[in-house]
This record gives sequence, C-alpha cells and structure tokens, in this order.
Amino acid sequence: MQKKRLLTGLQPSGALHIGNYFGVLKPFADMYESYESFLMIADYHALTTLKNPEELRENIMGVARDYIGVGVDPKKAVIFQQSNVPEHTELTWIFNTLITMPFLELAHAYKDKEARGLEMNVGLFDYPVLMACDILLYDTDVVPVGQDQKQHLEYTREIGTKFNNAFGETFKLPNEQILKTVAVVPGTDGKKMSKSYGNTIPLFGTKDEIVKAVMSIVTDSGGESPTNVYNIHRLFRSEQELGPLYKANKGNYRASKEALIEDVERVVAPMREKRDSISDADVKKILKVGGEKARERASKKMADVRNKIGVTL
Ligand code: ADP
Ligand code: TRP
Repeated sequence: MQKKRLLTGLQPSGALHIGNYFGVLKPFADMYESYESFLMIADYHALTTLKNPEELRENIMGVARDYIGVGVDPKKAVIFQQSNVPEHTELTWIFNTLITMPFLELAHAYKDKEARGLEMNVGLFDYPVLMACDILLYDTDVVPVGQDQKQHLEYTREIGTKFNNAFGETFKLPNEQILKTVAVVPGTDGKKMSKSYGNTIPLFGTKDEIVKAVMSIVTDSGGESPTNVYNIHRLFRSEQELGPLYKANKGNYRASKEALIEDVERVVAPMREKRDSISDADVKKILKVGGEKARERASKKMADVRNKIGVTL
C-alpha cells in the first residue's frame, strides 16, 4: 500500500523555542517514518518580515540543522527550501486569480500583524495562499502544526476546493494534526510561547540561556505550586512523576525551577550535540538533494495545473 504523505514547515525567522518543538517538530519526528515525509523551510514566508540577507541565510542553515538535531533523518524525509521549488510561487499567482480580497481579509494572522503595527506588505496579506501551495502541490494528507495554524489549513482546503470546482479534480484536501496536549505551549509569562512575545525558552540555547529563561518564569506569589513552571514541566516529564515532586517542593519555587532546568537539559543536550555535529557543507548538500526531490514532485503537479487552466498549448 502506498504511504500517506506528511508535510510541515517552519519559517526561518529566528531561533526555535520549545513551543515549536512540542507543537510541531516532535510530533513530526515521532511519526514521519510511517509516511512519505516532507519538511520544508518556509524562506519566502520569512521574507514577509525579514529583510536582512545575512540573517536569512543564517536562519535557513539553522532551521535545517534544527530539523536534523531533533532526529529527522534526511535520508528518510525530504528536507527542502521553499525557494528552491519555484512552483510554489507560480501556483500562488494562479490561486490569487481565483480567490477574493474579502476572503483573505478574514485571516487572523494578517489581522494580528496589522494590529501589531507591522508594515502590511502584500506578501503578508497573501501569506495563506503561498502556504496553501506548499501543502497542495504535494498531495499532502496530514500537516502537523500548532493550534495557531488551524485557520491556514482551512484556507488551504477552501482554496483547493475552489480550484477543483473551477477546473476539475486536481488537489487532494489535507487535514491538520494538532495534538491537544501541546496545541499551545505556554511561555515564561504563562501566555502562548512565541518569539514575538519575548517569552520563550530556546530549544537549542546554551545551558546558561536555558537557566536564564527558566528562572524568568513568572510565579504567582499566592499559590503553593507555581502553575506556569508546572505547565511547562509537564511537557518534559509525566504528571505522575511531577505530582510528588511538586508536593515535596511546595512553596519552594526555586527547587521546582531547578528540577525543570535539569529536565530541559536532559532532553535538549543530546539534540544540541547532534545539531552541532553537522557541517555547513553537509547541510547544503542535504538541502540541494531535498530541493531536487521536492521539485520533481511539484513540477508534475504544476504540469497538470497548467494543462487544466489552459496555458499549455
Ligand atoms: P512564533 O509564534 O514563535 O512566531 P511560529 O508562528 O513561527 O512561532 O510557529 C511555528 C510553528 O510552531 C507553527 O506550526 C506553530 O503552530 C507552532 N507553535 C508556535 N508556538 C507554539 C506554542 N507556543 N505551542 C505550540 N505550538 C506552537
Ligand atoms: N505558516 C507556518 C508557521 O508560521 C509555516 C508554514 C509555511 C507551514 N508553509 C507551511 C506549515 C506548510 C505547514 C505547512 O509556522
């Protein structure tokens, strides 16, 4: 039987945090071998907010390393850069001519960015369409993401359906996979962990950076157990084990934080080591091979699309 297809992606827009890890990377790493798997670096999405070539280059290399560091074997998954497969932007244009402005105006991500005062470039507005192309080009079945990406998957299905209705059955409609237990990993202030809120625990930070982030977790002085610490800690250790530990540390927030630091280190240290052991040349080779494999698949789909819309003579 043919394997189902799994695809996800991350923007190379800054250092990854444990929210990205538990929300997306770990679920992907746990399941990718049972699927035909694609892991993308969404560099053209990152360009909507990042206009510094040195930083972008460094981040692209960084995300590729992160993927391998968390345990994804590049021989068993296609790891690639979005910009190496021009079919993604080509298909975006075609979809742009099918969908309406009011439809895109309903997107939360765009409204959030507008509310934060970011310059509203057309790329930010069109972001969900490029993401739909990332997914639909590969006949993707399952997309593991965090809760905040749910609407983007709804957009993807609607856009795919619209094309299918207009030009005939072409795109498979994908499903998101959002693990309830890790859908929203809280940050050091108890709100959703996000690089834009400055409340992250870095995934591949040094021990010192991890200590600094954990020590900054906001603890309410009223309760006996530090809720914000516990809610992060439960990702690293079972609740059965944590119960007695937090009981023993009752009132002593520092001890709970120290235990959390130890648990984060235990999980992160081997991944950090693996991440650091890969050379730049190896990363570039992996992305080159991955890009060629992805492109082979995407160009077949595009040939079908071009034929259906009537530009192939
Ligand atoms: P950020 O909010 O830090 O900018 P991104 O928007 O780049 O993160 O998210 C990348 C991926 O990681 C998305 O699939 C998103 O759903 C997931 N993710 C981000 N933050 C969290 C979180 N706190 N909990 C669970 N998943 C998250
Ligand atoms: N929008 C996603 C994020 O911010 C990144 C992304 C781009 C993506 N294309 C994708 C995720 C395709 C899954 C599938 O995290």
